[in-house]
Amino acid sequence: MDKPILVLGGSGFIGRHLLAQLETVGRHIRVVSRSYDQARGLLVLPHLQVFLGSVHDQDILRQAMAGAYTIVNLVGILHENRRGGFDDIHVGLPRRLVRLAMESNCRRLIHISAAGVAQDAPSAYLRSKASGERAYEAALEQNPDCGLEVHLVRPTVVVGPDDHLMQRLLTMARLSPLVLPLPSAKAQLAPVYVHDLVTALTRIITNTHHHPGLSRWCFCGPQVLTFQDMVTTLLRLCAIRRLVVPMPDGLARLAASILERLPGALLSRDNLASLTIPSVCDNNDLSRWGVAEPLAFEAVVRRHFAGHHGQRRYAGLRSVSD
Ligand SMILES: NC(=O)c1ccc[n+]([C@@H]2O[C@H](COP(=O)([O-])OP(=O)(O)OC[C@H]3O[C@@H](n4cnc5c(N)ncnc54)[C@H](OP(=O)(O)O)[C@@H]3O)[C@@H](O)[C@H]2O)c1
Repeated sequence: MDKPILVLGGSGFIGRHLLAQLETVGRHIRVVSRSYDQARGLLVLPHLQVFLGSVHDQDILRQAMAGAYTIVNLVGILHENRRGGFDDIHVGLPRRLVRLAMESNCRRLIHISAAGVAQDAPSAYLRSKASGERAYEAALEQNPDCGLEVHLVRPTVVVGPDDHLMQRLLTMARLSPLVLPLPSAKAQLAPVYVHDLVTALTRIITNTHHHPGLSRWCFCGPQVLTFQDMVTTLLRLCAIRRLVVPMPDGLARLAASILERLPGALLSRDNLASLTIPSVCDNNDLSRWGVAEPLAFEAVVRRHFAGHHGQRRYAGLRSVSD
């Protein structure tokens, strides 16, 4: 099966790691990216074609989809901003994608949702992700004979080189001498290693058996930790001496209401709302896709963060192309 794979959101954190793995299995990959600067780092990959444009542009999507067997949708945001809201990106895009996939000859659609999504979830992020999942379900219910295979993937928080969470925590620790006040310290998380996640995704993508219909997969790490445990482990292994002090919820919401207005939005009130429910899996489906022993959080930190603060961007891609 040598048809191209279209990866939307391929220039993001998970996308870059996924492209690096797909490259090792010699697949032709297409990426749609809004910005040449974002996509430039991907051009080291020899089998990659970049379509410059927005995923909201149907003509670009049609061109990028032509002849593709598989589409992976990694487009997502943690904060609403002037360039897009949760509804456009997490709901409108899935609706369009599934329709266009049915019109074209695409056979497999993989959508990255998130652990904890539900229509009554405490955050707008998780509720919009649930509505995105519903868009695929509704499309398949209305077109039961379309032959499309849809995978809805729900990862917990994803950690690894160039991730968002660890980088932010290290930045916050450096800005906070002696004491690091931590919002949502008791939040429960089962962090999954990005390499394990993209290994499972690659197996779904390259599976030679076709199973029309909808499947859901929950992917998480092997341990449930509190946010405070994670931060304490990260700082200890990176030899950053800070006292990690839980922040009272009211103060955390006040801090978030300021931070969400600043460029880069380090933290929002909606993020805090997401953290009020555990980001864990009831059943971890990683082993179903060949990841028998997912890496524990402490091992991820030792491998990628301890002793090398200042991670090199695109390091994963470079090692593949070398
Ligand atoms: N990272 C995690 O811990 C985690 C956990 C659970 C679920 N997820 C989900 O996994 C997916 C990927 O996450 P990630 O961490 O890799 O995210 P990321 O690094 O922020 O990358 C997101 C990608 O989405 C694209 N994008 C964002 N807004 C867009 C817009 N308005 N129009 C077009 N493209 C847009 C960006 O592409 P360009 O800027 O190149 O156009 C970027 O490549 C997301 O759906 C996220 O919700 C992530």
